[in-house]
Amino acid sequence: MFDFRPSERMEHVHSDIRGPIFVEANRMSAAGIPVLKLNTGNPATFGFGMPDSVRKALLENADKAVGYCDLKGMPDARRAICNYHLKKGFKNITPDNVFIGNGVSEIASMVTTTLLNPGDEILIPAPSYSLWTNLTYIAEAKPVLYICDEQSDWYPDLEDIRSKITPKTKALLLINPNNPTGAVYPREVVEGLIKIARDNKLVLLSDEIYDRLVMDDLVHESTAAIAPDMPVITFNGLSKSHIICGFRCGWMVVSGPDWFTVPMLAAVQKMAAMRLCGNALTQLVIPAALEDDASTRAMMVPGGRIYEQREATTKALDKIPGITYVKNRAAFYLFPKIDIKKYNIVSDRQFAMDVLHGTNVLFIPGSGFDWKTPDHFRLVMLPRPEELTKAIEDIGKFLETYDQSKVEITI
Ligand SMILES: Cc1ncc(COP(=O)(O)O)c(C=O)c1O
Repeated sequence: MFDFRPSERMEHVHSDIRGPIFVEANRMSAAGIPVLKLNTGNPATFGFGMPDSVRKALLENADKAVGYCDLKGMPDARRAICNYHLKKGFKNITPDNVFIGNGVSEIASMVTTTLLNPGDEILIPAPSYSLWTNLTYIAEAKPVLYICDEQSDWYPDLEDIRSKITPKTKALLLINPNNPTGAVYPREVVEGLIKIARDNKLVLLSDEIYDRLVMDDLVHESTAAIAPDMPVITFNGLSKSHIICGFRCGWMVVSGPDWFTVPMLAAVQKMAAMRLCGNALTQLVIPAALEDDASTRAMMVPGGRIYEQREATTKALDKIPGITYVKNRAAFYLFPKIDIKKYNIVSDRQFAMDVLHGTNVLFIPGSGFDWKTPDHFRLVMLPRPEELTKAIEDIGKFLETYDQSKVEITI
């Protein structure tokens, strides 16, 4: 036997969205117990279909995708992406500033690998989607978590960010709209983040994958549009807005001064060249999808599925003592708070596991989103309103007798 161990780089990498509680849910499903899985933001699994615009573009153009394509992405698709961002107020970008890949996930990994040296620090929101901390660990850099403040609608705490900057800080990440809180940052908040980056010479990474999924008549403000003079990398894609997570379709726009864009794009190009090109089939649908914002909008307004599912979820949660929340304004996530004193909760993972066993509903505890106290969990509001209402009523009933001090902590 070899003394074999995987790379130490993987030590801190965690994906609770597909972690032990999820594994247990799968075991239950395999044993014939129907489990409502609210762990991933994958709309297709809840009966959302891809828009006709996307299907038509795919069917009509499939022959164009049989060869390797441009390693930065197909020219028509990059042009469409560039125009989309110019319409959102970006300045001084051309299709050459755009890079398409297999989802934001792949593009983000190219960026962390090419941007970060071992030991560099990157400011990452807490709570946040674990992709970014994980990629930082893999780059042997250090994620430094800054607080998003529930008392202020989950907006980033600018003082907390300032207090965590060191000579090693290289970049500031914002996820706007946010996963898991569903917060949409007003212009002043984005300006505040930009000012911190400017004062401290930080690169801004702006994950805006949910920018088309805003509700309540809010307008999404892109970081790069407000700060054309700053080094910014904007991440976006079609997984959620056009219900095609499985296509793996994401991109980035590298914007700002030439001293940043030229070497950054060259470094990413070296990375991208190794994998020859992104999936060409998905790129065929980008121009049509970005023309079609109607299908996304329709889900986000009263009467639309995502809007009504949020309303059903929040209405049902209002009836549970000890649960409070800040209503999400975008995407389909809610990050409710549970009164840990009332239920004697010391482990949010155990809480999620107990709810799974008691109600057959799977959700991911806050610790899966780098939230350090055991008092939050994330709900994915993708099932139909009736199903969400029932699931939350079941959780409410379960909580009537729940007392974690009487439970053995096994996870
Ligand atoms: C904030 C955020 N960024 C990136 C991603 C990854 O998206 P993609 O499917 O484009 O890889 C997700 C997926 O849930 C996400 O929530």
